[in-house]
Amino acid sequence: MAFAQLQLRVQNGFDSWRELVNPQRFRVLQQRPAYFFEAKNMKQQISFRVNGDSHSLETQPNRLLLDCLRDDLKITGPKEGCSVGVCGACTVLVNGRLVSACLELAVRCDGADITTIEGLGTPDNLHPIQQAFIDQGGFQCGICTPGMVLTTKALLDQNPEPSDDQIKAWMMGNLCRCTGYYKIADSVKAAALAYSPTSNPNPSER
Ligand code: FES
Ligand code: FES
Repeated sequence: MAFAQLQLRVQNGFDSWRELVNPQRFRVLQQRPAYFFEAKNMKQQISFRVNGDSHSLETQPNRLLLDCLRDDLKITGPKEGCSVGVCGACTVLVNGRLVSACLELAVRCDGADITTIEGLGTPDNLHPIQQAFIDQGGFQCGICTPGMVLTTKALLDQNPEPSDDQIKAWMMGNLCRCTGYYKIADSVKAAALAYSPTSNPNPSER
């Protein structure tokens, strides 16, 4: 992909953050197109819903969704790992679509429904996917887990009975430094048995 095309994709969004795993694109992304640094002093009014709650805020056009969520709204479920769209720790759902919040501009989410891990369950009433990760030991330190759980939800929402190969392919954009991946794959399989997308709607749709 030529640089001009890639710059356009950064501005307009990637269909899948898995595109970014390609090392050649990764290098170009590290150059951080000037777009990110323009208009530092500009502010733009935006509003969106996070886990069903409405938020309205004034933000810079180049502010990342991850910073907006963690620093401005104090929603700290999405983690910052690599900051360049490779590890999946910052994964959130924007209108049901997987997004790396470390690459997404907050202003591009104006009017969107955003789901973070905080929107899936409560300590007293865990989401079936969260419960499956606990039951199967699919995490250790937990840094990658919010992204893993949301990525699993996106998979099961569109493919409730994934094969082992489909699970591996789908989860490849989420990295874990602790568990090895067998327990995570077991967790996704257990979640597929426990989770029905129609009976567990996205909280922002309730
Ligand atoms: S912090 Fe966003 S993908 Fe790693
Ligand atoms: S549980 Fe520690 S990085 Fe995955």
